Amino acid sequence: MEDIIAVLDFGSQYTHLIARRIRENEVRSDIFPFDTPAKELTLMDPKGIVLSGSPASVYDKDAPLCDKKIFDLGIPILGICYGMQIIAYILGGSVKKGKKREYGKTELIIKDKSDLFQGFNDKTIVWMSHGDYVDSVPKGFDVIAESENSPIAAMRSKDKKIFGLQFHPEVFHTERGIDILKNFIFNICNCKSTWKIESFIEKAISEIKCKVGNEKVLCALSGGIDSFTTAALIYRAIGENLTCIFIDHGLLRKDEAQQIIKIFNDNFKMNLIYIDASKRFLSRLKGVNDPEEKRRIIGEEFIKVFTEESKNLGGFQWLAQGTLYPDVIESAKAGSIASRIKTHHNVAGLPDWMEFKLLEPLRMLYKDEVRKVARLLGLPEDIIRRHPFPGPGLSVRIMGEVTEEKIKICREANYIVEDELKRAGLYDKVWQAFAIVGDDKAVGVVGDKKIFGHIVTIRVVESVDGMTANWVKLPYEILEKISNRITNEVPNVTWVSYAISSKPPSTIEPC
Ligand code: XMP
Repeated sequence: MEDIIAVLDFGSQYTHLIARRIRENEVRSDIFPFDTPAKELTLMDPKGIVLSGSPASVYDKDAPLCDKKIFDLGIPILGICYGMQIIAYILGGSVKKGKKREYGKTELIIKDKSDLFQGFNDKTIVWMSHGDYVDSVPKGFDVIAESENSPIAAMRSKDKKIFGLQFHPEVFHTERGIDILKNFIFNICNCKSTWKIESFIEKAISEIKCKVGNEKVLCALSGGIDSFTTAALIYRAIGENLTCIFIDHGLLRKDEAQQIIKIFNDNFKMNLIYIDASKRFLSRLKGVNDPEEKRRIIGEEFIKVFTEESKNLGGFQWLAQGTLYPDVIESAKAGSIASRIKTHHNVAGLPDWMEFKLLEPLRMLYKDEVRKVARLLGLPEDIIRRHPFPGPGLSVRIMGEVTEEKIKICREANYIVEDELKRAGLYDKVWQAFAIVGDDKAVGVVGDKKIFGHIVTIRVVESVDGMTANWVKLPYEILEKISNRITNEVPNVTWVSYAISSKPPSTIEPC
């Protein structure tokens, strides 16, 4: 059995990064809710436990607390930021409210290099982001590092192998953060590097076999790499008991339906059912302005079509989707601490009445990891290199009501943006490139006529996993070409603008 580090999620936006950093060292890391009972955790037999950060304070009325019994399991624990404060708070140290937040890079002075800081010099740069701080350590703990503003920047109980860091080792700005995590994973928890993408594939296939048995699975194919990879994995597990269904909601990219069907037929042996459901989706979206409501309606309509089709074809118990880990985080359900960013339709937008059981084999992966899985499964490069495209399609790139006119503008403009990036050899170098249209209009002159046309916004971002993203500083000449083509080739567009906001604070898609 492979070694696992369990990460308890107290709601920090960085929880996923901790798990990711551990996996980059080829050690499996799974994320669990902060209040997972100690008994349940021991079933996984983790070699170490990490307590994540949190936007909360231990003094909040509903502060997220972990099961105290985890401190008696004899398993090494590393608390990061809020995770360290929880350790101090529960084990009898004290935590104080800071007068002001400490945010940014700071110099750490290391006082003990025997375990977590093994191989370090006396000083290193770390990244802090906290309001509260540990004012006194619990009995049996030592201070192992300090900084100017945090006299207890790192603490440790040698006996219990419990560690706390006030700063964030998982972020890039902490210069030797990875080495701290390595010391924890390998020297303190004694993990072996056994987690490989290949072992993910084997495990996923045997889990699918075990879960599904002889039942039948309907896989929602969207044309993106996530759903293709999901289908390919499930096909390896259950063969003919898988049927793929590709629903055209009328919000696809230009010529996308034909392209997807061709790629599918050229590369796969599985059954594919194509359904043109554009009329019913578009009629339900009439008059709807609210972005979350649009997502909810699309999610619900998808399930209605799947349910009808399953009845027509007879007896599907499972619905498979290509949900990834960032979709799960960003759709954090109301009631969880990570604040809800937007409802990715294939996660939180599913209606309560849905009768299918859900199969989501990629739920713990990031896009770059899915690309590796896809290559190992032999998926075609056309699919692997395709930019991510959201399940609710162009509706998330159309602000306000989804109308026929805005769909046409959005579809044509999206095509031009992608086409120009391909011509410039930049398509594969960016994460996503697309166009957005809303109801804002501006005056322009077409021929000799003055018109009040739409404003189209171009968005091009670079990202590793979609969780954070930077806008791309495209050369002016390419922007100019795109702008000229959009105003010349797309009717009723008078202005083109470029989105220069990164994520955070923005998101990648506008709705
Ligand atoms: P945001 O806009 O949340 O997007 O910063 C992050 C990544 O997720 C994609 N995205 C979606 N994918 N269903 C999906 O399958 C959705 O509802 C959805 N919304 C956003 C987005 O294109 C970006 O790559």
